[in-house]
This record gives sequence, structure tokens and C-alpha cells, in this order.
Amino acid sequence: MKINLANIKKAKNLLNNRECVAIPTETVYGIAGNAYSDTACKKIFRLKKRPANNPLIIHYYDLKKLENDCDFNDNFLKLYKRFCPGPITFILNQKKTSKISKIATNKKNTLAVRFPKHPVTRNLLKYLKFPIAAPSANISSRISAVTSSDVKEDFGKKIKYILEGGRSSVGVESTIIDLRNNPKILRLGGLEVGIIQKILKKKISINTNPSKILAPGQSRIHYSPGIPIRLNVKTIKKNEAYLLIRKSKINKMNHYFLSKKGNLKEALKNLYTILRKIKKDNYKSIAVGKIPHKGFGKTINDRLLRASKFK
Ligand code: TXA
Ligand code: MG
Repeated sequence: MKINLANIKKAKNLLNNRECVAIPTETVYGIAGNAYSDTACKKIFRLKKRPANNPLIIHYYDLKKLENDCDFNDNFLKLYKRFCPGPITFILNQKKTSKISKIATNKKNTLAVRFPKHPVTRNLLKYLKFPIAAPSANISSRISAVTSSDVKEDFGKKIKYILEGGRSSVGVESTIIDLRNNPKILRLGGLEVGIIQKILKKKISINTNPSKILAPGQSRIHYSPGIPIRLNVKTIKKNEAYLLIRKSKINKMNHYFLSKKGNLKEALKNLYTILRKIKKDNYKSIAVGKIPHKGFGKTINDRLLRASKFK
């Protein structure tokens, strides 16, 4: 994608003035603000209608820029080297010297840290004097935005500026891994757990449904298109949209396909766009066929299960 420097400058000026702008990332679009500024972080929470106890991910250009804010450890350095920039978020201990706004972290002494890969946002981060706090650019508990027009749909004129970056290539949020002690996955996402395990050379526990919620992406209702969803459906009801993993021979108006041939990466990329489309096509409920529970299929099933809690 061609980088428009004038657009990046506009976003930069707004961020320097503690305003919020929407930014593209390879996972989903984010609502960005200066992570050192209480004012900017408060604006993010207000815009998203996000509960104050749900901390924000802090986005950095590289390790150098993170040095003053976090303690590094071996597992972090291994994963950073292999996957960053990319769709993974690390939970690390925060340094006492860190200047990150307490509003962004809800006064936690940990930090969720990410290095997004999207070239537009990397260019923006490179020249800013502060990291960016950015939750996904959607109203709290709804599905994330993967294009600038999705962001417009949710926020309209409330958001001062949307930095254009085309369609997000991954299509769902980053995988979150807690690296403070034994590595633990807190949210399934755009990076497969299997390849993280290969780098760390050990089995990693997955704790995406804890009794005490650490990451509200773990909360049981989330990622909802705003209409009911039924899972593992073989026979649909009248007037339901039918969402399937692959194109079938039956070509009906109410059938939607996540991928042509059942490719899970492609299906993941299309998931949020198709859920939005079904809602726009005016269906009042969605039946989902079985999705294979392996690789990215686990991320897809995680999102659909949470979305299905909406009644
Ligand atoms: O792909 C992504 O991660 C996107 C793009 C914009 O970077 N961001 C995103 O942010 O998904 P958000 O706010 O929608 O989800 C962040 C998740 C939340 O579930 C939050 O609770 C968790 O990260 N989180 C933030 N700080 C945390 C911390 N210190 N400990 C545990 N979880 C944390
Ligand atoms: Mg979110």
C-alpha cells in the first residue's frame, strides 16, 4: 500500500494535541491516543464507552522505545525477535520509571505491549515522541473494525480523523500472551498458539475464560454483531442467515461463506466483515455451521462463541 505522508502528518498533529484518531493495524483498526497523556486516554474510554477497569494495549515502534516502560525477559525477547512487528501482544511488568498514563492501565503495574506491523502506523509510531494507547475501534462489546468505513459506521463524526490504511490483513485482534511467569495465552488471536509454542519450545497454557477476568476480551459477551448467533447448526430456521466455513454447491441468498475452500486464515480475515454484512443485509439472526477446531479455527470459534452470548 502507498504511504500518504500528508495523512500521517495530520494524524501526528492531532495526537500531539492529545486528540484521538483511528489508525489502521494489520489486525484491526484502533482508536489511538498519546499513552503518556491522561487527557488523551480519557477521551479513548469516553469514545468507546469502555469501562474504566479495562486497560488499553500500548503500541510501540520497537524495543528501544519500550525500554523506559517495561522489564524485558528471555521469553519476551525470543518472541519479539521472531514475530515483531506482528499480531501478538505481551503482558509484561511495568517499570517504576514508566510514564504511561494510569488511566490507560487502570493503575495496574503490568503493561500490554504490541508492535503493529502495518506500514502506515509504523511510520506514524516511528516519529512520535510517545507510544500510542489503542483499543480496537469499535463500540465496547461489539465486533472490531477492519476498514475505515467500519470505523465510520461505529463512530461517525465523533472521531476527529481516520487514518486510511486499506483493509486489515489479519482481520481479528492480536493474540495476547502473559509473559510475567509461565507463559499463558489470555486471548486467542491473529497469531497461532502452535507457532508460539515452537519458538518457546514448550506447551503454553490457554486461559481465555478465567474466573477472574484479566483481559475483558475474555469477557463472555464480546465481538457481537448485535443479533443472535447459534453455533454448530445443521438445519437452519426460516429467515436465518447461514454462515459456513466454505462455499457449498447450494447457492442460496441467505448462505454466506467465510472462505472459498475452507482455508482458515482466509476465513479469519473475512469473519468480521461477513458478520457486519449479514447484519446490513437485514437478517435478524445467524446460524453458523461447524467450524474445524484447529489452528485459526480456534480463534474463529472463540469469537463466535462469545458473540453467541448476545441475546
Ligand atoms: O490487535 C489488537 O490487539 C488491537 C489493535 C488495535 O492493536 N487492539 C485491541 O485492543 O484488540 P482492545 O482494547 O480491544 O483489547 C485489548 C485487550 C483487552 O481485553 C484488555 O483487557 C487487555 O487487552 N489488556 C490490556 N492491558 C492488560 C493488562 N495489563 N493485563 C491483561 N490484559 C490487558
Ligand atoms: Mg476490543
